[in-house]
This record gives sequence, structure tokens and C-alpha cells, in this order.
Amino acid sequence: MPKARSHFLILGSLVGLGGLVVLGAVVFFLGNAWFGLPVNAQAPVQPIAFPHTVHAGTEASGGVGIDCTFCHRNVDKGPTATVPSVQQCMFCHSKITGAGSASPTAETEITKLRDASAAGEPVNWIRVHRLPDHVQFVHDVHITYLMANPGKIVNVTPVINPDGTADAGQTCSTCHGDVAKMAAVQQVRALKMGDCVDCHRQNNAYTDCAACHY
Ligand code: HEC
Ligand code: HEC
Ligand code: HEC
Ligand code: HEC
Ligand code: HEC
Repeated sequence: MPKARSHFLILGSLVGLGGLVVLGAVVFFLGNAWFGLPVNAQAPVQPIAFPHTVHAGTEASGGVGIDCTFCHRNVDKGPTATVPSVQQCMFCHSKITGAGSASPTAETEITKLRDASAAGEPVNWIRVHRLPDHVQFVHDVHITYLMANPGKIVNVTPVINPDGTADAGQTCSTCHGDVAKMAAVQQVRALKMGDCVDCHRQNNAYTDCAACHY
């Protein structure tokens, strides 16, 4: 075999091998994007042990019964839900110190909040849900859709109001589970590409790549 030709063959098989490796990587990343497990299937430890049970839980279950949208103010108005500032917490916690609470952790944890407020520092909450930067997600569109189609809301009881309508705060469980019953928020739904696309297909929403990718 002429030397040049054998070089060509070696080069060819190297390119082939490289191609296989690249293909393997693509299959891996796509498989992971479609079927991978949620990033935070376990609740991360937060700088302040903030219990949704106490704040968002119903009064009947011993909670304060604050609506999700009171704290996540932007959730039905734009893409991001937003987490409340220290000032928003101090609306109540300038008076509620946790002293004498039946909960053994209340005073220590609320003190951390009041200290941050006095120092003018934010609380650096650790993100539970986080999509990669190349994916775009918008909250308001989903919430409006679920409010208009309360039958699509899942993961919580009672699902909707007695008259058949749903408030913005009653739609969240569809993707986040029953947060009002979580002492620490953890991710419960995959929210991977396969999950998003399946729901879009079932509800006649866009499935073209540009709908979700920049
Ligand atoms: C509408 C009023 C209200 C707002 C707003 C509010 N809280 Fe509370 N919070 C309460 C009440 C009531 C309790 C129960 C206090 C008790 O057990 O004595 C509480 C309890 C707590 C506890 C103690 C829980 C425990 O039992 O260990 C922490 C920590 C806490 N809040 C943090 C926050 C943070 C952080 C924010 C802002 C994101 C916030 N709260 C906003 C009313 C509020
Ligand atoms: C008193 C204010 C308050 C209320 C009411 C509240 N939240 Fe939150 N929420 C927070 C704070 C503070 C965090 C950040 C700390 C954490 O993750 O627990 C948070 C975090 C979250 C997260 C995780 C965000 C992430 O990092 O991915 C979700 C999801 C969430 N809340 C949903 C809800 C839902 C649904 C309700 C209503 C059932 C609700 N919240 C009611 C204050 C509140
Ligand atoms: C259709 C699914 C879906 C619904 C419905 C939904 N979320 Fe989310 N939520 C997500 C996804 C996906 C992310 C991660 C977004 C990202 O990383 O860009 C997220 C992130 C968040 C975050 C943290 C980041 C941020 O946007 O500030 C909070 C807080 C949150 N959601 C609260 C809520 C609340 C409250 C509701 C109901 C009023 C709600 N979500 C309804 C899918 C949903
Ligand atoms: C519960 C079902 C459901 C899930 C889960 C869901 N979506 Fe959607 N999404 C919809 C529906 C329905 C619409 C169309 C709403 C309308 O136009 O009224 C939509 C619209 C959107 C839009 C807006 C398109 C536009 O410009 O109007 C984006 C972006 C989007 N979804 C991204 C995502 C991503 C990313 C995920 C996964 C993290 C996701 N969605 C999960 C049902 C869902
Ligand atoms: C309904 C929303 C949605 C649509 C439509 C969609 N994607 Fe995705 N895609 C996602 C989400 C969400 C992720 C991130 C999954 C994860 O957490 O890794 C993703 C991840 C990916 C990744 C993996 C990148 C990585 O870092 O692992 C590729 C490649 C991709 N998408 C390509 C496409 C192509 C090509 C199309 C059109 C045929 C498409 N997507 C349509 C939501 C969508």
C-alpha cells in the first residue's frame, strides 16, 4: 500500500474515531437534557432556615397563610418569580422576633434575618431551580395559561377554588409541587427538555427550538 494512502487511512480512522467521540458526547448531553434527574432533588441548606410551611401553609395547618404572590411578586407579571428582599421580610419581622415561640428554631433563625437587616446586607439564598443559560423560561405565560385552564393544575389538594377558578398561587404546584407543605424547598419535577416539550405538545404550545433557546 502506498505510504500516502496508508496515512490517509490512519487519518480517516482517527477522524472517524473523533467523530464517534463527538457523537457520543452529543448523545450523552442530549440524553441528559431530555431525561436527566432534577439538579436539586435534595433541598440545599439555606443561609436562614426559612420554612414555607410556616409562611405559606394554611392557617388550619398552623401556618400564616401568606399568598405565594405576596413574596414572589413578579411571578405573574414577568419571566422571573423573584425572591423577597430582607425589607419585605421585615414588614413582619421588625415585630415578630420569634421570642417565646413554640418553635425551638424560630428565634435563632429570625435573629439571622434581623442581623442582616441591621447590617443592610442581603440574604444569599441558594437557588433550587436553575435552567442552563441557553434556555429561556417565562413564568407569567404559564401562570396565565393554568389560571385559564384550572383542569391542568396538578400536585396539590384542593386544586382550585370551589367555584372552579384558580388564583395565581394555586398554579405553582404544577411545576414545583406542594411548596406550602415543604419545610425546605426541593425540586420535585424534572423540568428537563423532554418534560417541557411533552407538556407543550399536550397543550398545543410551541415546540420549535427557538421558543425555548436563545
Ligand atoms: C406576613 C408576615 C410575615 C412575613 C412577610 C414573613 N414572615 Fe417569617 N414568620 C411570620 C410568623 C407569624 C412566624 C411565626 C413566628 C413564631 O413562631 O413565633 C414566622 C416565622 C419565621 C421564621 C422562624 C421559623 C421557625 O419556626 O423556625 C423564620 C426563619 C422566618 N419567619 C423568616 C422569614 C423571612 C426570611 C421572610 C422574608 C422572606 C419572612 N419570614 C417573612 C410572619 C412573616
Ligand atoms: C414569606 C415569603 C414567602 C412566601 C409566602 C412564599 N415564598 Fe417561596 N420563597 C421565599 C424565600 C425567601 C425563598 C428562598 C429560600 C428558599 O428556597 O426556601 C423562596 C423559595 C421558593 C422556591 C425555590 C426558588 C428557587 O431557588 O428555585 C419556590 C419554587 C417557591 N419559593 C415557591 C413558592 C410557592 C409555590 C409559594 C406559595 C405556596 C411560596 N413560595 C410562598 C419566600 C416566600
Ligand atoms: C410551567 C412550570 C412552572 C410554573 C407553573 C411555575 N414555575 Fe417557578 N420555576 C419554573 C422553572 C423552570 C424555574 C427555573 C427558571 C430558570 O432557571 O430560569 C422556576 C423558578 C422559580 C423560582 C426561582 C427563580 C425565579 O424565577 O425567581 C421561584 C421563586 C419560583 N419559580 C416560584 C414560582 C411560583 C411562586 C409559582 C406560582 C405562582 C411558579 N414558580 C410557577 C417553573 C415553573
Ligand atoms: C404544564 C405544562 C407546561 C410545562 C411543564 C412547561 N410549559 Fe412552557 N408553555 C406551556 C403552554 C401551554 C404555553 C403556551 C401558553 C400560551 O401561549 O397561552 C407555554 C409557553 C412557553 C413559553 C412562551 C412562548 C412564547 O413566547 O409565548 C416558553 C418560553 C416556555 N413555555 C418554556 C418552557 C420551558 C423552558 C419549560 C420547561 C422548563 C416549560 N415551558 C414547561 C406549558 C408548559
Ligand atoms: C419547551 C422548551 C424547549 C424546546 C421547544 C426545546 N428545548 Fe432544548 N432544552 C430545553 C431545556 C429546559 C434544556 C435544559 C435541560 C437541562 O436541564 O439540561 C434544553 C437543553 C437542550 C440541549 C442540551 C444542551 C446541554 O447543555 O446539555 C440541546 C442540544 C437542545 N436543548 C437542543 C434543542 C433543539 C435542537 C430543539 C428543537 C428541536 C430544542 N432544544 C427545543 C428546553 C427546550
